[in-house]
Amino acid sequence: MTARERHGAYVVLRCSDVGGPRPQAGQFYMLSSAARWGGGHAERPLLPRAFSVLRAEDEELHFLIEDVGPGTKRLCELQPGDDLMLVGPLGAGFAPPREARAALLVGGGVGIAPLAIWQDELGGQAPALLGFRDAAHAAGAVLLAAPQVATDDGSVGHHGLVTELMTERLDADDHAEVYACGPPAMLEAVRELCARRDVPAQLALESGMACGFGACFGCVVPTRHGLIRLCLEGPVLDASLLETAVVAGAGH
Ligand SMILES: Cc1cc2nc3c(=O)[nH]c(=O)nc-3n(C[C@H](O)[C@H](O)[C@H](O)COP(=O)(O)OP(=O)(O)OC[C@H]3O[C@@H](n4cnc5c(N)ncnc54)[C@H](O)[C@@H]3O)c2cc1C
Ligand code: FES
Repeated sequence: MTARERHGAYVVLRCSDVGGPRPQAGQFYMLSSAARWGGGHAERPLLPRAFSVLRAEDEELHFLIEDVGPGTKRLCELQPGDDLMLVGPLGAGFAPPREARAALLVGGGVGIAPLAIWQDELGGQAPALLGFRDAAHAAGAVLLAAPQVATDDGSVGHHGLVTELMTERLDADDHAEVYACGPPAMLEAVRELCARRDVPAQLALESGMACGFGACFGCVVPTRHGLIRLCLEGPVLDASLLETAVVAGAGH
């Protein structure tokens, strides 16, 4: 690991991945620390955890971590020079907008992570609407260019839901393609809004992932075409494939 930055409730870890494949926006890595990973006598094995790549530049990968349990707590404690083990890039990422539509990025909480690298790849111009619960979490908004922010408690930006900002945008111009990542309830609201307006959307989902590469079937989610392994066919899915974005096993 080369650097650690705190942004309010979040930690950004940077690590070098010299010679590693360049990730696509929306892909993820399975991360674990080389030392003290787990709580038992030998401090192993806690399974690695899945993290979207936040940014990739100069053979360095960035990850955005929120401390919500034992794995993320340990990762948030890492210091420059500590060894971070990673497997990736994994899964399928975002596809470019269709029909010359304008990309509209909609993120909630730690789900802003894959939108940062996607905004970079789109040239930095795509508008980003970001929702957070409070000011400590809204500190993460600096990771995207020119974001419009909403908070649940009104401490920063619009007082309300990010989907309210999204509705305003689509009322002004709905020749857009929405790229969203966030908690299941937010993703479901985005999916419904887009379906109602015939606006295409790509949703980065979450489900419990034990392996990250198709072996354990722990990440299976239902789609209109049957069950799929989210680690292989996702985590980004076209919204039209889903009857609901609220899937069992999603952490948040
Ligand atoms: C494809 C993919 C990409 C992901 N990208 C990121 C990322 O970029 N950054 C990131 O921080 N996490 C990300 N996650 C989520 C992360 O992998 C899980 O939250 C992980 O389980 C945390 O491990 P843990 O050991 O800390 O907590 P666990 O022991 O696994 O979970 C502890 C408890 O916290 C709940 N929980 C999990 N996350 C949250 C949350 N955010 N808020 C409230 N409760 C929660 C769980 O349901 C559980 O009850 C991603 C997950 C997937 C599948
Ligand atoms: S995480 Fe193991 S099959 Fe998807």
